[in-house]
Amino acid sequence: MREFILYSRLGRTDAKWKNLHDAGRLDIVYECIIASLFLSHAIRKDTVFHAILNGPPQPPLHLKVEGLTLRDVRTDVNTWTQILKKILSGNHHPGITLSKTSFEALVKNKATRSKIYVLEEGGKDIFEADIGENPIFVLGDHVGLPKKVEAFALRFGEKVSLGKKPYMAATCITVLNYLLDRREISQK
Ligand SMILES: C[S@@+](CC[C@H](N)C(=O)[O-])C[C@H]1O[C@@H](n2cnc3c(N)ncnc32)[C@H](O)[C@@H]1O
Repeated sequence: MREFILYSRLGRTDAKWKNLHDAGRLDIVYECIIASLFLSHAIRKDTVFHAILNGPPQPPLHLKVEGLTLRDVRTDVNTWTQILKKILSGNHHPGITLSKTSFEALVKNKATRSKIYVLEEGGKDIFEADIGENPIFVLGDHVGLPKKVEAFALRFGEKVSLGKKPYMAATCITVLNYLLDRREISQK
């Protein structure tokens, strides 16, 4: 199992918006969902993606997308614009849930079972870090993680880096999935 937690500073917590970008950068949430859960013609059953939405009008909201039960999806932006609108309006979609959970409560709960890895350019090189089983990765959005949020997550884990270049959050997830896939192959 692998899990990704995106801290979205401004992601809207209602469905009153026209497009993902103007909805407090829900386009980043969409990109991270695709990078986390989609292979070519398949969904990663062993992966869960979380976004904590901290935008108006009712933050925080915890959006959870589970590969095991996710159904009736494609990877295009129109499909996910409709799905996110539907979920944020209080309706259902298989594999996706919305709850009133804060980042702190989610991380604290997850840390009882697995180690937390906070993605940051200045962290320990990923090739030198000891990434355990069932890792949980925390990422910031286009602005990065607020200092207080980062400090909270670091109570339960460590900072890891993919190098000095600032990548998009979705790119980081793609790289992590690739590295974990390679590790799984070499362990077989
Ligand atoms: C677009 S970046 C945010 C850039 C922002 N200017 C900052 O300083 O955090 C989004 C997130 O991707 C992750 N990230 C980007 N590049 C990274 C790297 N080279 N190593 C580790 N994490 C990275 C971090 O979690 C970051 O918060």
